[in-house]
Amino acid sequence: MTDASRPESTTDDAKAQRLEEAQTIAYPSGSTRRSRTAPQEDPTLVVLFGATGDLSRRKLLCGLGYLAVSGLAPDMRVIGTSLDDMTDEQFRVFAKKAIDELGARKLTDEQWERFAPKLSYVNTSAGPEALAAAVAAKEQELADDETQGDRERVRRLYYLSVPPKAATKVIETLNTAGLVERSRVIMEKPFGEDLESALALNDEVHKTFKEKQIFRIDHFLGKEAAQNILAFRFANGLFEPIWNRNFIDHVQIDIPESLGLDARAAFYEPTGAYKDMVVTHLFQVMAFVAMEPPTALEPRAISEEKNKVFRSLEPIRPDDVIRGQYAGYRQEKGVDPESDTETFIALKARIDNWRWAGVPFYLRTGKKLAQGMRIISIAFKEAPKSMFPAGSGIGQQGPDHLTFDLADESKVSLSFYGKRPGPGMRLSKLSMQFSTEDTEQADDVLEAYERLILDAINGDHTLFTTAEGIESLWERSIPLLDDPPPVRSYEPGSWGPNSIHQLIAPNAWRLPFERNWRD
Ligand code: BG6
Repeated sequence: MTDASRPESTTDDAKAQRLEEAQTIAYPSGSTRRSRTAPQEDPTLVVLFGATGDLSRRKLLCGLGYLAVSGLAPDMRVIGTSLDDMTDEQFRVFAKKAIDELGARKLTDEQWERFAPKLSYVNTSAGPEALAAAVAAKEQELADDETQGDRERVRRLYYLSVPPKAATKVIETLNTAGLVERSRVIMEKPFGEDLESALALNDEVHKTFKEKQIFRIDHFLGKEAAQNILAFRFANGLFEPIWNRNFIDHVQIDIPESLGLDARAAFYEPTGAYKDMVVTHLFQVMAFVAMEPPTALEPRAISEEKNKVFRSLEPIRPDDVIRGQYAGYRQEKGVDPESDTETFIALKARIDNWRWAGVPFYLRTGKKLAQGMRIISIAFKEAPKSMFPAGSGIGQQGPDHLTFDLADESKVSLSFYGKRPGPGMRLSKLSMQFSTEDTEQADDVLEAYERLILDAINGDHTLFTTAEGIESLWERSIPLLDDPPPVRSYEPGSWGPNSIHQLIAPNAWRLPFERNWRD
């Protein structure tokens, strides 16, 4: 949130300067070479496909607005396009309403006044020529303002916030309209729905765009807290030596949602929790936890290590999976009364390499569960022998844990047994906690989509997924997709079907937490 007491321009300048500093850190001292992640100065024209859709309303318009006015991104124009009939003015009204009602970060009146003229609209059904004309006009505007009229220096960023079938059509349109040059394209999940369709989709996209132009977005990797896993693991000497099968008993990646279907039946019915959440978000976050130290903080090195994790992932066995469906799902609008779609999934994943052999990774996510949380919990092995007498409390609250909370305020906590004050030797679980919210930089946290759109503008692939990574995840999903276990019903507001406890026994799910995060 912006601090209203500071003058806007100073805040913006300071932010841009901090970003510049953050991104030049990678330079060897004295080097004048610019890093590939250095902010781009050339202006950018963003074309937002699916501009009136749900994601655009909830996240993208707000994120683009903030990037456009904060000084973090170069000068930009945003053309919204969708099948709705709208004038530029109507689109601005639509965008303002979305930002005011749904945006995590509001724009001040002054910021909105600066952003509004940058927005325009073209109807997708007007065809490739209309799109090309709109792009040419806005590029000229940017070029006149920023590059002495040189349109060749204006970059193009296409955000395809549309389903996969529509995405291939959009790509065809861009090709026909001659808009592929100087461009980058952000693609939204799902990247296929199995190995075959993912291969076909990637082939199709590669006919028009080179891999280096494609940014497959997984917004979980844009979350500040997910990146903090990399910092935590690879910037400190403390934990990495014990980050392996000798010291870690098991890992939980637990993303329950209290939300229901939210009028998304058309998307959710053919998709379900595994394809919606696990193949994309949960496995991607798992790769950050499990990967070997990359040789550098650069896209190829990080993708290489993540892809090695995916290659070491054992095919998902149906016996290791619990699929659930909340009671009442089949009566939701747009849902088949005999639907077999899972709204919940819990599974045991096994990574068969030297670091992780024998360490189960338990993943869980689902709709209409008791709480909305996003945690990664690393359970360390218990001490081999205990000198503390029975009844002292040791082990009573599970093993010691390191927990990452992927909430926007990014929290980390280390819990351990310590002495309860007073006579004798009674032990209880204590914890050390950190939250970005408590730091002076709390205002600088970028929302996941803001961060990732900015990276795409700067051509930085570090936090995006690759075709190879996605394909290998679909390959590991074959046994489950071919022979899914039956869905079991669970009560809305619960933690899923009862069998989740057998899946993780003799351990237990960390959630619900035995105590809350400290205020
Ligand atoms: C989306 C899924 O990708 O992620 C949704 O399609 C899910 O079903 C959402 O609710 C969760 O994201 P976040 O950032 O709100 O935790």
